[in-house]
Amino acid sequence: LASTEVDISAIEPGQAIKTSWRKQPVFIRNLTEAEIADANSVSVDELRDPESLADRTSDGKENWLITLGVCTHLGCVPLGAAQGEVKGEYGGYFCPCHGSHYDTAARIRKGPAPTNLEVPEHEFLTDTVVKIG
Ligand code: FES
Repeated sequence: LASTEVDISAIEPGQAIKTSWRKQPVFIRNLTEAEIADANSVSVDELRDPESLADRTSDGKENWLITLGVCTHLGCVPLGAAQGEVKGEYGGYFCPCHGSHYDTAARIRKGPAPTNLEVPEHEFLTDTVVKIG
């Protein structure tokens, strides 16, 4: 299947789910107000891979952060999507393979990963259903 549709209605702010698309893990995260503020407080120019949260989310849906769950260093699956997993020093995701820390916009902040977690093409079909791919 080229695309997949996901029901996101049960994902509360502060929670995430893992799904998959083209056999790759995908994280869908409903950011809290604090996580959004945190992401927006960073000066984009200082980032290794300069992108704003708005660049990485859909208009009017800044709280829905959808990324591949594939570390851009050597492809491990970062921690932080499932309940209770460590989120790293910047509160987003943490790759335990070689210690890459991603922030609440899943942007690389520390460690060997060269780029942010990839945002796959996606579109909101309704407020509660997103099509990935
Ligand atoms: Fe994630 Fe190396 S694969 S830090």
